[in-house]
Parts: sequence; structure tokens; C-alpha cells
Amino acid sequence: MKFFIDTANLAQIAEAQELGCLDGVTTNPSLMAKEGIKGHDNVMQHYQDICTIVSGDVSAEVISVDFDGMVKEGKELASINPQIVVKVPMIEQGVRALRYFTDNGIRTNCTLVFSVGQALLAAKAGASYVSPFIGRIDDISSDGLALIEEIRLVYDNYGFETEILAASIRHTMHIVHCAKIGADVITSPLSAIKGLLKHPLTDIGLEKFLSDYRESQ
Ligand code: E4P
Repeated sequence: MKFFIDTANLAQIAEAQELGCLDGVTTNPSLMAKEGIKGHDNVMQHYQDICTIVSGDVSAEVISVDFDGMVKEGKELASINPQIVVKVPMIEQGVRALRYFTDNGIRTNCTLVFSVGQALLAAKAGASYVSPFIGRIDDISSDGLALIEEIRLVYDNYGFETEILAASIRHTMHIVHCAKIGADVITSPLSAIKGLLKHPLTDIGLEKFLSDYRESQ
């Protein structure tokens, strides 16, 4: 299972990279805005900076919602660095753009996926990754993890190679459950990844080892 961090914050990306478990980064226009990244050149430079920190895939999202605009933007994003994966929304023009990018050797992440049907379309169009937003589904009293299970079933039925990238992770147990049900990738805030570290018996055990050591000296 791959671990991606879902942020455009360079310090957090660097911290996650130093932890030694990071396989990539996902961003979106909201996350870029949160970091105050404005203007074409700054945005491009920021993606390049992220690629310098991590060695894995970096999702960079198009802003256009028409086919020609998405293709133009996607080509430019992909030219920044071979690590860039072009993030395309699950809309009709987006599916066309996914097919175009697939046919032209540009890797893609289909974003804003909330149903099995959408995930099936993304796979048919050759998306490298599909991003079901599990937290946003949970937020409206539905079951985000169930969607991951259903997509897993459908992809396995037909051998689709599109990787299931569980997105909109809200907490540590989302990651654990995604691992159990076969998501290929999770993208998560750093806090939820670091939550995997925690167990009170680890802390108690370590304290006992250290105090026994100190007393024996
Ligand atoms: C996915 O790639 C998105 O960037 C992200 O996971 C959305 O999460 P949110 O629902 O917390 O905004």
C-alpha cells in the first residue's frame, strides 16, 4: 500500500519524507490556495519544489473544465517533472481528457469520485489512479469505506490496473480500514499517518525499559 500526503505544505511534505514511509503527494486547488500559492509561475515552481522533496508521484490538478483547456494545462503540468500525475475531475470533458492523456503517455489521477460508476468510467478511460473521497461521503452520513470495497470488487472482476487512491482521509482508522479492504494508496494529512505510531503499551513499555536500564547503571 502506498502512502501519499495530501497537502501543498512544503514543511509537512519534508517531515513526511523524513519519516521514511512516503510514496507521493496529492494536491488540489484548495490546498494550493491554503499555502498562498498564486499565479501561474509560482504554482509551477511550487510543484517543482514538491518534486524536489519527494521521489514519488505528485498529483497536480487542472483548473480548466473544458477538454482543450484540460489537455493544454495537463501537458504543461506533466512537463514540469516526470513525477507529476495530472489530476482531472470526474466530469464528461474530464473523461475525454483522461483518455487523451492515457493515449499520450501522461499519467492521471481522476478526482472527485463518489460512486462505483464514476470509478468504472475512470478505469475505462485508462486513469492511473482513481480518487474516491471517503471522508466527504462519511460527512453526509454515507459509507466511504463501502465505496472503496465496491470499487475494489469491480476492478478485480475485470483486472483494471487503475490504482484505488483513497482520498479525503479524516483520521488514522480510515487508513487502517483502507489497508484491510485493499485500497492501493491512501492520501492523508500527516496527522493521520502519525496516528499510526500511537499505542499506550508502546509508551509504557519503553518507559519501563529505560527506567530499568537507568536503575541498572
Ligand atoms: C484528494 O486528492 C483531495 O486532495 C483530498 O483528499 C480532499 O480531501 P478533503 O475532503 O479533506 O478536502
